[in-house]
Amino acid sequence: MSSKTTFEERLSRHIDELKWLYFELYSGRDDREKSFSELLEKMSFRFNEREDELKKLDEERLCNKDWYKGNSIVGMMLYTEAFAGNLKGVRKKLDYIEECKVNYIHLMPLLDTPKTKNDGGYAVSDFRKVREDLGTMEDLSELSRECRRRGISLCLDFVMNHTSNEHEWAKRALRGEKEYKDRYFFFEDYSIPARFEETCPQVFPQTAPGNFTRIEETGEYVMTTFYPYQWDLNYGNPAVLTEMTDCLLNLTNKGVDVIRIDAVPYIWKEIGTNCRNLKQVHSIVRMIRMICEVVCPGVLLLGEVVMEPDKVAPYFGTVEKPECHMLYNVTTMASTWHSLAVKDVSLIRKQLDTVNSLPKEYTFLNYLRCHDDIGWGLDYEFLKSQGMEEIPHKKFLNDFFTGRYEGSFSRGELYNDDPVLMDARLCGTTASLCGIEAAKESGDKEQLSEAVDRDLMLHGFMLFQSGIPVIYSGDEVAELNDYSYKDDPKKADDSRYVHRGAFNWRRAAQRKRKGTVENRIFEGISRMLDIRREHKAFLNEADVRTLDSGDASVLCIERSFGDESITALFNFSPEEKIIKTHEDAKFYDLISGESIESENIVMPPLKLRWMLKINQ
Ligand code: GLC
Repeated sequence: MSSKTTFEERLSRHIDELKWLYFELYSGRDDREKSFSELLEKMSFRFNEREDELKKLDEERLCNKDWYKGNSIVGMMLYTEAFAGNLKGVRKKLDYIEECKVNYIHLMPLLDTPKTKNDGGYAVSDFRKVREDLGTMEDLSELSRECRRRGISLCLDFVMNHTSNEHEWAKRALRGEKEYKDRYFFFEDYSIPARFEETCPQVFPQTAPGNFTRIEETGEYVMTTFYPYQWDLNYGNPAVLTEMTDCLLNLTNKGVDVIRIDAVPYIWKEIGTNCRNLKQVHSIVRMIRMICEVVCPGVLLLGEVVMEPDKVAPYFGTVEKPECHMLYNVTTMASTWHSLAVKDVSLIRKQLDTVNSLPKEYTFLNYLRCHDDIGWGLDYEFLKSQGMEEIPHKKFLNDFFTGRYEGSFSRGELYNDDPVLMDARLCGTTASLCGIEAAKESGDKEQLSEAVDRDLMLHGFMLFQSGIPVIYSGDEVAELNDYSYKDDPKKADDSRYVHRGAFNWRRAAQRKRKGTVENRIFEGISRMLDIRREHKAFLNEADVRTLDSGDASVLCIERSFGDESITALFNFSPEEKIIKTHEDAKFYDLISGESIESENIVMPPLKLRWMLKINQ
């Protein structure tokens, strides 16, 4: 029997590559030998600190590496405060989470942040402390324990690109301590920042223009890709990587199952580049993956890569050198909303064909809405061939979803409307974007029913995709936009708060009253989740292809696994359509319970069908 400990044994598998990447990244530094040993010491410390229960789970997951890949994981993302006040509150509400058939929750940032200027929690001032009003680290451990008991996985953000300007390091940097200034990007004057600005685009052109912030006290400049109070960390300094890795492992030791690496494409900066997706970013993500595989191999990495399609998949890494376990299916999400506005499914069909041609090992998180805005990152080359030019099309989408377009049902709000680039993004809840808000207001029953169908059709499309579906908290009960953020000076200039309102438990109680909007949406989603779990055609390994429905507004997708085949139809138009089947087959619609024997399938306006093929 080997005398090596588990830690040593796991480390021995990765040490060569880890050291190689580390030494390459820090090739210009003569302290790299020392700093590498410090990193290994932290890893060993965190491994020893890890509770037995978590180590046992690590071992179980190592024996079942694909534990998260089946068709049974359903996610929900929520704000602790908005959902249940604090962490103890979330624990009390886990019954509701289970009622939603959700077994993976992503709690939005809950680590310590300044009271104002916190970017919804994404400006962390202490990575080792929970925000006081939400609870303590112990509450977090207790919540994670209770989640484990119920088989619910817990996901937390790891905001690694930046700290708040009220973080200890930033305060010490402000006091002029060189060691801490070196953890950020400090410049004496604007000459270097000006060179960065030549090639580095802006993330928040309206709410936080530019990538640098002038420090009034000293006249220096600090790099702030996001808000001026979010100071970019300099991963060119090995101390930053070591300390931040330690903060990450501290979180995983609290029982967190999934780490969402926030804004990961931005973590390495270089003059003359766009400071996104640089090769060093991939080296760092790969190192983090190996570090977790040594210390906490049961933990998954979810990369937040909100980028054009060809930039996203590389974050999975390769089979031999994997990086993230999971990524967001962001282009599909944006293309879905586009399809709803234009009532034409050719772009989404092309997008699905691209995603479906990727290796089946890739796990995407599918979603309709999240806490952020919808950016119109669409395939404009393709749209051009269909007569749609980028700038006017974005304007059309924004007009459409803000309800300005003639005949629109939508109630979104613009986000970071950039008059120079003529670019703006969009905010709003699924229900409000689908027309439920407008229809409730006008009292038009027909419109309301249509809006509910639209909402369910979109959810049904999201749930039909391979990967992990993630519901944005509130969407399961058709939560509407919340405009109260406009009265709060801390939030008023950030329209993302329109879809971050407090969970309305009173309205959510309506899910139990037959026929209410909340009930129709809740039960509709719930039923689809049941079907999804019961049928193996929903496994990731299933073959998925799109088919020509013969109608521009009806999307047809087929999933098959073994002897099971399910063909889905989604009618993105408010008109009834008749779809001809390609083959002489009989189906059973798992959603409506109808048998479909005719060659001409009736697709009512905005409806969907998940049709199981009956063997004849
Ligand atoms: C991510 C978050 C977003 C935040 C940004 C800066 O994109 O999703 O909400 O503003 O990072 O941390």
